[in-house]
Amino acid sequence: MIIAVSGKGGVGKTAFTTLLIKALSKKTNSILVVDADPDSNLPETLGVEVEKTVGDIREELKRLIEKNEVPSGMTKFDYLKSKIYEILVETDNYDLLVMGRPEGSGCYCSVNNWLRQIIDNLSKYYEFVIIDTEAGLEHLSRRTTQNVDVMIVITDASKRGLGTAKRIKKLANELEVKFKDIYVVANKVKPEYEKLIEEYAKELNLNLIGKLPYNKEIAEYDLKGIPLWNLPEDNEVYKKVGEIAEKIIKK
Ligand SMILES: Nc1ncnc2c1ncn2[C@@H]1O[C@H](COP(=O)(O)OP(=O)(O)OP(=O)(O)O)[C@@H](O)[C@H]1O
Ligand SMILES: [Mg+2]
Repeated sequence: MIIAVSGKGGVGKTAFTTLLIKALSKKTNSILVVDADPDSNLPETLGVEVEKTVGDIREELKRLIEKNEVPSGMTKFDYLKSKIYEILVETDNYDLLVMGRPEGSGCYCSVNNWLRQIIDNLSKYYEFVIIDTEAGLEHLSRRTTQNVDVMIVITDASKRGLGTAKRIKKLANELEVKFKDIYVVANKVKPEYEKLIEEYAKELNLNLIGKLPYNKEIAEYDLKGIPLWNLPEDNEVYKKVGEIAEKIIKK
């Protein structure tokens, strides 16, 4: 099952993704996490060190091609594949791949196509693939050719935020990559506004799968740079993300 988490900047995608991985890892460790945000910060919230990104590998290969120094006896595809496997961070709970910087100007289409093929193939070994995306959706289709089973759009608790979620949903339907189910999660919702958010979501025909409260512990962990992965099991947002995970995998 491929799950992509999207939403506009700063709505809580990375926080949600971290807690979703934490919740799913209670069931299986067959999870591939892809940090597809060039301004990567998922490793920090997960509490792992990442030395190299897919972007670094792309740049290294570009340099080797330019200098005519690609290792002999190996195709460029195999070279890339071995490097991707090398930079994959393996933990007891999940494996993590960080995409890093996007391709710069100048088309290295074949390299990008190979990368896409390698990552798509790698994904097949896992029960779950979880992608933390950058704010725009267009990038996703450049990174994968596979269809996404579940897209979760995170939104802030505002009518405008839900409007953005609606636009993301519409855009998703126009992309080459297909999204089977699209759900919305409203984040930092005050209890007294829950009803209103539900009404707005209904008006907009959005499938609201969960509402998460503002949580001081999350704010404090992030402020102090403590990985959200280390949040206690009884953290109220974590518990709610767990319920959302259950709903998604039951589908
Ligand atoms: N439920 C919550 N309660 C309190 N603070 C939260 C909650 N969710 C997210 N935050 C805070 O909101 C900020 C943005 O969260 P996060 O980095 O997860 O968003 P993002 O959508 O991944 O941002 P970006 O678009 O920059 O990648 C962080 O400081 C985080 O601590
Ligand atoms: Mg983020």
